[in-house]
Amino acid sequence: MAHVSLSTSLGDLGLRTPLIAASGTVGGVWEWAEIADVSRYGAAVAKSASPTPWAGRPAPRVAPTEVGMLNGIGIQNPGIEKWTGVMEPRISGTAVPIWGSAVAGDADGFALVAKDLDSAGVTAVEVNLSCPNLEDGEMFSFSASRSRQVIESVSAAVGLPVGAKLSPNTPDIVGVAAACAEAGADFLVLTNTALGFGLSIRDRMPLLSGGVGGYSGPGLKPISLRCVYEVSRALPGIPIVGCGGVVHGRDVVEYLVAGASAVEAGTIHLAEPRAGSRIIRELEREMRRLGAETVHEIVGTVGEW
Ligand SMILES: Cc1cc2nc3c(=O)[nH]c(=O)nc-3n(C[C@H](O)[C@H](O)[C@H](O)COP(=O)(O)O)c2cc1C
Repeated sequence: MAHVSLSTSLGDLGLRTPLIAASGTVGGVWEWAEIADVSRYGAAVAKSASPTPWAGRPAPRVAPTEVGMLNGIGIQNPGIEKWTGVMEPRISGTAVPIWGSAVAGDADGFALVAKDLDSAGVTAVEVNLSCPNLEDGEMFSFSASRSRQVIESVSAAVGLPVGAKLSPNTPDIVGVAAACAEAGADFLVLTNTALGFGLSIRDRMPLLSGGVGGYSGPGLKPISLRCVYEVSRALPGIPIVGCGGVVHGRDVVEYLVAGASAVEAGTIHLAEPRAGSRIIRELEREMRRLGAETVHEIVGTVGEW
C-alpha cells in the first residue's frame, strides 16, 4: 500500500497532520487529551481567553438543529490570568501542540491576551475576530480597518505565528482577509460559526437565551468552503486553515482541494471526542484513492469549468 505523508505547514509552522481541533470544542485540550488519541492531530486550539473573566450567557446556550447545532456560550472563560495558571504547567506535557485563542473588546486587550498566551508556551495564537456572542454586537471581522488594527497590535506583541479567525458572515471576506494578511497575520482560519437562530413553536421562545447565536456542524461546510475557495484564489500567498462542518476524512480533502493547508474540526468532538483517529484513517484512505502521497500536492487543486 502506498505510503501517505500527512505532514503539512502554515508558512513556517509545520504540522504533523492537517487535522486541528477547533477552539471551544476540546476545552483546555489537556483534559480532552486524556481520552483522545491526540497524536493524530497537528494541533489543538484551547477555548478562547479574554483579558478579564467573562461569565458567558445564561442557559439555554446550546441547542441541536435538524443538521448541526446552535451555541451562544458568550465565551465563558476565567480570564487570561487564571487561564495561564491552569494551562502553563500542562502545555509541554500534552501530546499535541496547543494553540491559544485570544478574544477581547479592543486591540490592546487582544494584544495583552496574546502576550500571556505566548509566555504560557502555546505554539500559535488564533485571534478570534468572529465571535457571534458578544454583547456589543458587531464582530471585528465585519470591518477591514478594525481587523487590521487588532492583527497589527497582536503581531507586534508576540513572536509566535498569528492566525486571524474570520466569520463566514464577513461582508467582503477577501478584503478583510487581505487587511489581516497585510497587518501581519501568518495564516487565516476560515471560518467560525455562522449567525443562526432557532425557536420553539410550542414555547414561542428562541432556543438560545441570547436569541441569535452561532451555527456549526455539517450545514456550515459549503459556506466555509466558499470562503476558503474565494480567499485562496484571491490571495494565494497566505496559508489558510479551513473550518466548518468537518465530520469525515473526505471533508478534510474538500477543504485541502479548495485551497486550505490544514483543517479544523469542532462540533464533531462534542458528539465524538475521539473523532480524530477515525477522520485521519478516512483521510489516508481518501488520499490513496486519489493517488496522492502528500497533503501539499492536493492543496488548491480545484479546477474550473
Ligand atoms: C460549543 C462551541 C463553543 C465554541 N467556542 C469557541 C471559542 O471559544 N472560540 C472560537 O474561536 N471558536 C469557538 N467555537 C467555534 C468553533 O471553533 C468552530 O469554528 C465552529 O464551530 C465551526 O466548526 P465546526 O462546524 O466543525 O464546529 C465554538 C463552537 C462551539 C460549537
